[in-house]
Amino acid sequence: MTTEMTRPRIATAPAGSPREGMKTRKRILTGDRPTGERHVGHYVGTLANRVKLQDQYETFLLVADHHMLTTRLTGLDEIEHNIRATILGNLAVGIDPERTTIYLQSQIPEVSEIFVLFAMMVTVPRAQRIPTLKEQMRDLHIAQPSYGLLGYPILQAADILMVKGDLVPVGRDQQSHIEISREIARDFNQRFGPVFPVPDALIPEVGILPGTDGRVKMGNSLGNIINLFDDAKTVERKVMGMYTDPTRIRPTDPGHVEGNPVFTYHDFFNPDTAEVEDLKERYRAGRVGDVEVKKRLAAALNRFLDPFRDRRDELLRRPRIVEDVLEAGRERARAEAQRTLHEMRAAMKLDYFGL
Ligand code: TRP
Repeated sequence: MTTEMTRPRIATAPAGSPREGMKTRKRILTGDRPTGERHVGHYVGTLANRVKLQDQYETFLLVADHHMLTTRLTGLDEIEHNIRATILGNLAVGIDPERTTIYLQSQIPEVSEIFVLFAMMVTVPRAQRIPTLKEQMRDLHIAQPSYGLLGYPILQAADILMVKGDLVPVGRDQQSHIEISREIARDFNQRFGPVFPVPDALIPEVGILPGTDGRVKMGNSLGNIINLFDDAKTVERKVMGMYTDPTRIRPTDPGHVEGNPVFTYHDFFNPDTAEVEDLKERYRAGRVGDVEVKKRLAAALNRFLDPFRDRRDELLRRPRIVEDVLEAGRERARAEAQRTLHEMRAAMKLDYFGL
């Protein structure tokens, strides 16, 4: 895994975007709900990939604050903080706002309008069949979904098709949302004329990083995360408290490496493969204690996170960094949104009175 990054240059609003209706490279759109701090699980699952993709594709990155509301209407005063954390996390790992258009969903009113038009094309049973609906209801103990939650994937389709995204890098859990976006694109094109490319999901092959508690996944709401910006002491404390091989009582017992999150983390974050192999061998043979394995992991993780922390400190020397990035992103994203909406209305013969 590489931590090599280019320095972030922060775009000021570019006057007269050279893109003007012409796409030269394939376009990517992806996004995050502003759930809070970015953690090492986000890095492994999506962020590392994103940083690479921005070199190859024209990239749009949205913070989906309207999507956040589909499952949460309390504590809304925390959202601003979470938006900030989401954006700083992306910037610190190397997303370059000059190459990637970073924008806030709610600042693009056209997305809501596109969503309304798409909503007319999707039947209620189709929306109800999307598996994430039931999963969300189960996980978040929602007895009756709101109309907005039912529409979640349709709003996501509006995000994707608004920029005419060709590729959508997402986790496997989002596949059904890309599927319905494809259906909507095809359906629209068939009914009204060719406006949209049919987007493809781009699902990375990386494994999922388990939580520090050994649960399958790291999650902000699960209390089992290591934040990208945790300080060295905090990282060490979290690592020392990590779940490990529960069958092992003494350091002289032969231990299990497979399925042991401490070693999974070593594999992801410790570039010193000789050290990792040596630890594994001794662990299996009962010749190394958990404490040493964890100490070495904490050291490796801290080395891994150092450049991100430095970058964040550098970014924060500009107090309005997030505001500036969003301002520039809004300009660019809105131009796309307006153009797409215009084409949709024309195709649908809704451009009444030449408006
Ligand atoms: N649903 C996505 C998630 O929770 C976030 C999201 C919103 C998104 N709109 C998007 C992802 C468009 C990709 C494309 O992870």
